[in-house]
Amino acid sequence: MRERLLAAEKVKAIEWVDGTLRLLDQRVLPLEESWLSYRTAYDVAAAIKQMVVRGAPAIGIAAAYGLLLGARERIAAGGDWRARLEADFEVLANARPTAVNLIWALNRMRERIARLKPEEEPLQALESEAIAIHQSDREANLTMAQLGLELIRKRQSAAQNLMTHCNTGALATGGFGTALGVIRAASLDGLLKTVYAGETRPWLQGGRLTSWELHNEGVNVALVADSSAAHLMKHAGITWVIVGADRITANGDIANKIGTYQLAVNAMHHGVRFMVVAPSSSIDLSMENGDDIPIEERPSSELLEVAGHRVAADVPVCNPVFDVTPADLIDAIVTERGVIERPDAAKMAALMSRKRLH
Ligand code: MRU
Repeated sequence: MRERLLAAEKVKAIEWVDGTLRLLDQRVLPLEESWLSYRTAYDVAAAIKQMVVRGAPAIGIAAAYGLLLGARERIAAGGDWRARLEADFEVLANARPTAVNLIWALNRMRERIARLKPEEEPLQALESEAIAIHQSDREANLTMAQLGLELIRKRQSAAQNLMTHCNTGALATGGFGTALGVIRAASLDGLLKTVYAGETRPWLQGGRLTSWELHNEGVNVALVADSSAAHLMKHAGITWVIVGADRITANGDIANKIGTYQLAVNAMHHGVRFMVVAPSSSIDLSMENGDDIPIEERPSSELLEVAGHRVAADVPVCNPVFDVTPADLIDAIVTERGVIERPDAAKMAALMSRKRLH
């Protein structure tokens, strides 16, 4: 499957080219494919905040390159670059609150700085670390695609209908995707009839990104309104809802894009299985349960306007963009370290004490 996924790969969203971070601007997809270049940590933080790059693993990868860019500026300016780099660390860390991958990647870069040997060239070492973060996310996704595929096949070996939410694909990660990696693998393996992709109001990650990614690769996707989920689960023969996660806590609760929780409740009601696919960089054992996860609130314009046009009355808006799905609604969490079914605190701890599979 690894080779088939690699051969089918069409979409990339993050590139490190000659000391410049290049990001495919996800705000203008699918109408325009526009790449933007970044050479400072502050500009990368702004790109994360403004959703030029989005998706939990992708913002972690972008932040790692951002800190590398910060180090380059600080070293060029002279003085105590390590102390001054803390300001860049903070601005990157605060760009978005919910996905733990952001702080995970920044901490990994900070630990690399702490381990620098006197004979090492700091920028070379940090560049290698950022590239390793990027590459290991791609590898994790290839592993998870295989594990998720096996889980689907174990329950039913015939082609089936799946449902997903938000964008968890190549655009949201270092490549291939988390939940979308599994769905890509199911399609390549003949196990997919149709994947129903919720449009993901209000930012429309499903409508603008997921459907574009899948359609480009010839995967059978049907874009659906988020509010059609219960109806489709009742009538469309869906076997699995497959989603990603922005943070998974010690008891197996998961934060993901707003609307995920109602999908899990509906899935339980209709006997549809619920799979979460996320690399271990999304797991935060320091948080006991999902109540502790900071939930991002985004600007009211995301609800009051569509593509810059006012569509709603001038009323107060409440726009939380993530929600928490409790562990007891989840059938399986797939990571690159392995799969846990019916997650709980003991299984999560055991998973994280295992070595990586790749
Ligand atoms: O606000 P976004 O677009 O960054 O939210 C993305 C999601 O919620 C994804 O489902 C999540 O990051 C998991 S994807 C790899």
